Amino acid sequence: MAHTAVQRFYRHQACIYNLSRWTILRGRRGAVAALDVRPDSRVLEIGCGTGLNFDCVAALLDPARGRLVGVDFSEPMLRRARRRVLRHGWSHVDLIVADATRLELGGRFDRVLFGYSLAMIPDWNAAIAAAVRHLVPGGRLVVLEFGRFDQWGLLGTMVRGYLRVNHVYCDQPFAEGLRPHFSEFEIRPWLGGYNFIAAGVK
Ligand SMILES: C[S@@+](CC[C@H](N)C(=O)[O-])C[C@H]1O[C@@H](n2cnc3c(N)ncnc32)[C@H](O)[C@@H]1O
Repeated sequence: MAHTAVQRFYRHQACIYNLSRWTILRGRRGAVAALDVRPDSRVLEIGCGTGLNFDCVAALLDPARGRLVGVDFSEPMLRRARRRVLRHGWSHVDLIVADATRLELGGRFDRVLFGYSLAMIPDWNAAIAAAVRHLVPGGRLVVLEFGRFDQWGLLGTMVRGYLRVNHVYCDQPFAEGLRPHFSEFEIRPWLGGYNFIAAGVK
């Protein structure tokens, strides 16, 4: 099947991702805290990329009881995630190549995380629906994503334009799309709309 624009983008970006993104992709620890991982949780990260969130999540899991599954549709990004897993000797972390909008993993999870991946998925509503299908009742889903830079004036317009060129569409109604799926839902914006952490309980 033909690769999407995002897959082509990461073919070239994968090799500089870990070095370049720490400057802009903030809030990982807050998002993992909102995920409320238990030692025996089954955690799914959708659009896991090179596994930059794995350090925080894997440390909270008991390797004998907990499990972390990372899913991404970019092979070059997952290759780097695989190296990270091997380097750390994480026997409780699995990686799967899959499209977030057509996820069929044949199992359910206690926790699901989207870390800066949702705004790169054109049909993000389908990705949310698939994620919710993979969540157990009472399970928790967290989204860490760029906000709309509402309070940034002209600079916000420029940043949104820059993100769009990089396949990130941050001006989508994510809260409205997420809320109906959950019995409890909260969203915390940060720094005048720079990013947000949304958390829902199914
Ligand atoms: C900005 S990176 C975030 C990676 C990682 N979650 C992080 O926090 O560093 C976005 C990731 O989402 C993945 N992605 C985008 N659209 C996807 C889709 N439809 N299915 C699976 N992965 C997707 C990309 O391949 C990329 O690795």
